[in-house]
This record gives sequence, C-alpha cells and structure tokens, in this order.
Amino acid sequence: MTSSSASISRSNTRIGIVGAGLVGSTAAYSIAMQGVGSELVLIDRDPKLAEAQYRDILHATPFSHPMRISAGDYADLEGCALVILAAGVGQKPGESRMQLLARNVAVFADIVPQVMRHAADAVLLVATNPLDVMTQVATRLSGLPSSRVLGSGTMLDTARFRSLLAERFQVSPRSVHAYVLGEHGDSEVLAWSGAQIAGLPLDRFADQCGQPLTAQIRQEIDHDVRRAAYQIIDGKGATNYGIGAALARLARCIVHDERSIFTACSVVPDVAGIRDVAISLPMVIGHQGVKMLIDPLLSSEEHDALRKSAELIRTTFTSLGC
Ligand code: LAC
Repeated sequence: MTSSSASISRSNTRIGIVGAGLVGSTAAYSIAMQGVGSELVLIDRDPKLAEAQYRDILHATPFSHPMRISAGDYADLEGCALVILAAGVGQKPGESRMQLLARNVAVFADIVPQVMRHAADAVLLVATNPLDVMTQVATRLSGLPSSRVLGSGTMLDTARFRSLLAERFQVSPRSVHAYVLGEHGDSEVLAWSGAQIAGLPLDRFADQCGQPLTAQIRQEIDHDVRRAAYQIIDGKGATNYGIGAALARLARCIVHDERSIFTACSVVPDVAGIRDVAISLPMVIGHQGVKMLIDPLLSSEEHDALRKSAELIRTTFTSLGC
C-alpha cells in the first residue's frame, strides 16, 4: 500500500472505493473535498490508475480538508466502515443500463468476495449499472443483510426532478420535495402526486406562482429526467459529476449516522406485491445502512408503474439464476 502522510481529520473513518474510473474517482474527489471520513483507499484492477487517481486527488486536499488517501489492494480495505463499488463498464451512447448486466455481474463475481474477505463489517454502496440488479447481485454475493447493501438508486433522478421543478418555479432545489422511485432506469416513476413545495401540493404552489403545471410541461420534465443520462453520455461519453456527488452525499449520511431520507436502492421485502426486489424507495439511512423503508403515498397510476418497474428488476435478477 502506498499512502500520503497527510494528518488524519476528525472522525476516524475509513472509506474504500473499488473502481477508480470516472465515477469512482469523482466520488473519491467529492468525498475528499467535503472531508467525509478520515481515510480513503482507492482500488482498481489497474493499480497504475488507482495510484494516479489517489495522487491527483491528494494534491487537491491542501485546498480543502486534510485526509489520508492511498491506493492499494483488497487487503487495504481492512477496517473500512463503507466500501463503494464503482467497478465495471458504463453505458456507451444509446446503450441502456440493462445492456451492461452480463459484463458487470462478472466483475462483481470477482470483486465482492474479495471485499468481503477484508471488510466484512462495512456497508456496501453500489454505483455500478444496471444499479438495482447490481445491488441485488452484491447483496446475494456478499451474504450481508439487505440493510447493509445500498445502491445510489434514483437519488440522482430525484435530484434531476427537483432541479427541473426548482428551475420552473425559481426556488432552490433544496426547497422542493419530490421523489423518483423504482428502477434507476427507463421504467423509473416520477411521483408527481406526492411532490410538495412549502408544504403545498405542487399544483397549488404552481397556481400561486402563476406557473401552471400543464400536462405538456409535466411530460417535458418527465422526459428530461428519464433521458438525462442518455443526453449527457451522448455529449461527453459518460456521466460522473451527478453520480459522484450523490455517492459522496450518501457516504456522509452513513459516516455521520445522519438518518437522512433518500431514494437510495436496497432489497425490499415487498413492493406493490413484488417480493424481494432491489429498488428505490424513500428510506432512512444511517451508520449501518437502511434504518427504515418508507411506503410512499402514490396515485393508482404511479402504483401500477412502480409495480411494473419492480417486476422488470425482479425478472432480470431472476434471469441471472444466482
Ligand atoms: C446516470 C448514471 C449514473 O444516471 O446511471 O447518470
């Protein structure tokens, strides 16, 4: 293991990241800049890449928070409270997340047992697509209780939804309470019926702003949320800043036992009648992962769409035969 001699920051918490590519390194950079935890260990099947990413991020830490950063191998995950799994292939322009499945399952079959050999007490946070199925694969391969295996889920889609609504009404995204549920993918569900701003249902707030939410506008926002990744990948070949920030936010919530509520992904016992499926619902997240699953209030159309989404994920996972 090669490491810096930077001083240790306050909370003595180690975070491991397996996969030092674009998503893993952006998450590492975001975690380091926010000073989440005290130590960051980067692992990649290409040690040269992990080493270069660690050094590059280390050189940014004097401008933000002291943090011990290193590149290493699986043995260096010893004592990590959180391990982010960002290894695998990403979408190419026009490719769906589900099309990555076979390649990324093979990657997880290799890396998850090695992680468990050295960090059996960690919370696992999956970033690899197709996110929901990969979260269920990681849960199965790790043998951990489902509450200890999370995926970034539709946290990024929820952020996209909130940002577009915030832009429409000229308010901060932090004042918009709206969720995207289900698959982090084409079947995701924008839960319009429960969306609120200032404690008001969206339509009431829209009326007060004189910005009615017509069917056309709802359709445009739905399209822009659902297609956001495809549009970005078409332009720059990948997405990394949104997902990197989402992973860092989840890491902070876990490390500090915040018990904040996010639409992260975890294996849920029953969603609209579909059993044991990794899917995104609002959930309370803290030190050991999922503290509480929340059953959202949905319209009948949203409920049916969530069931379809859960069915797609479950069927895909079952098709793996694992
Ligand atoms: C996206 C990738 C992370 O939605 O699936 O940007």
